[in-house]
Amino acid sequence: MTRTRLRLVLAVAATLAVLGPLAWLWWQSLVPDPLSVMDMGYVDTGGAPLSAAGAATGGHSGHGEHLAHAEGAVSVADLTGPRTGTPDVAVDLVARAGTVRLASGREVRGFTLNGSSPGPEIRARVGDLVQVRVTNESVPDGMTLHWHGVDVPNAEDGVAGVTQDAVAVGDSHTYRFVAGQAGTYWYHSHQVSHEQVVGGLLGPLVVLPRRGVAQDVDALAVAHTYRGTRTLNGREGEVPVEALPGDRVRLRVVNTDNAAVRVWSDAPYRVLAVDGYDLHRPGEVDGKSLSVTAGARADLEVVLPGSGEPIRVQVGGSTALVVGAPAAPPPPVPDQPADTLDLLSYGEPAALPFDPTHPDRRFDYDIDRRPGFLDGRPGVWWTINGHLYPDVPMFAVEEGDVAVFRIRNRSGESHPMHLHGHHALVVSRDGVAATGSPWWVDSLDVLPGESYQIAFRADNPGIWMDHCHQLEHARDGMVAHLMYAGVTTPYVLGGPEDNTPE
Ligand code: C2O
Ligand code: CU
Repeated sequence: MTRTRLRLVLAVAATLAVLGPLAWLWWQSLVPDPLSVMDMGYVDTGGAPLSAAGAATGGHSGHGEHLAHAEGAVSVADLTGPRTGTPDVAVDLVARAGTVRLASGREVRGFTLNGSSPGPEIRARVGDLVQVRVTNESVPDGMTLHWHGVDVPNAEDGVAGVTQDAVAVGDSHTYRFVAGQAGTYWYHSHQVSHEQVVGGLLGPLVVLPRRGVAQDVDALAVAHTYRGTRTLNGREGEVPVEALPGDRVRLRVVNTDNAAVRVWSDAPYRVLAVDGYDLHRPGEVDGKSLSVTAGARADLEVVLPGSGEPIRVQVGGSTALVVGAPAAPPPPVPDQPADTLDLLSYGEPAALPFDPTHPDRRFDYDIDRRPGFLDGRPGVWWTINGHLYPDVPMFAVEEGDVAVFRIRNRSGESHPMHLHGHHALVVSRDGVAATGSPWWVDSLDVLPGESYQIAFRADNPGIWMDHCHQLEHARDGMVAHLMYAGVTTPYVLGGPEDNTPE
């Protein structure tokens, strides 16, 4: 071999040595189409074996199929709400792509339900059978409805490719569930949600107690940003809430955006509930703002003074609720307090329905980022326990388990983590135990560097998304699932319906 020849051979070999592994990594990262979540990543059983009924192995080799094809596996399609019975609340919705008209007359491109965004408020009482039939008139990618924060039976959860197929243009889908827990919720599409939710395919859902309400006035504040324009209930600026002197006013703040929103006021307020769960003996808050996590809800109470002097409650810097007489001139924008209310120590402790200190399973949900390929695209991508989507954990539980998640965020950005189908109790943050009211969440902001422990009872069989509600993060792979042993799904990601929940 001549010297030049040798050089060439060595150069080619060196190139292959670099490109070969890269090509392999690229190829490995391609997300199969279709993909069943049952075959996604690896099963993590949280440090305890699954019993024989759940079949299956733990550890990294255990693929979903072991769990899925176990004798007598239940399909998510069968985990429905009541199929018979006359609904107490029946709503028909029509989903369209096109123009959203804000109250100011401003028009933005987006999505509507029955011609508006937010879609109509659905209001039920505890125990009501709720039936919502949605027809997709013109959303080209298909759509679904997910009941964010409502722990519905799995088949009603509205996740394209996991609990149903996306509803194609011209098709309809009916959801039926019993409203079990009084509180403030919302619904939104869970198909291409980083476009459809951001574009306004959403609306509020309020569940009132079986009878009576404690407040004189009950008002919604659905925060949403339409292409850079911040709104409350589809309005820019100030939203009037009519109240009489001395009235107790419940303000239901729903954060449908991708980032947390601050709420504050010059008037004292109480936080009555978070994510549909009442706080126990919430004290008066003065001079502090409340951070409402992306996807989360907070119910605040303000009391209009005897003088009738209106109260202004800021929801972010540019939108506010003005509580008082209809024509009262709004008070000036109050300065945003430097302090934020810490829910970890707010309110008073109360009995818990289970013991979070002796869980049956413990899971880690470590969020980080690293360079790699995501579905063939090079970049610096989110990781879950060091893994890139779709090679992510399937967290496996059995019905009845108490499970603890330790969520650690070392990624340098905030992540509003949302577990479907369950509410979790916040146990501790950065090693500091919760000392206030039991704090139940379905959406929890985990800030850079923070570590939370949350606990929940596995009491709702199914396959449940457990993802970041910064929906661009979800699109970029911050998605995992909680699965119950013995439950399987016939739906697939991708496929002919092009199911794309993120
Ligand atoms: Cu608000 Cu998985 O969604
Ligand atoms: Cu995130």
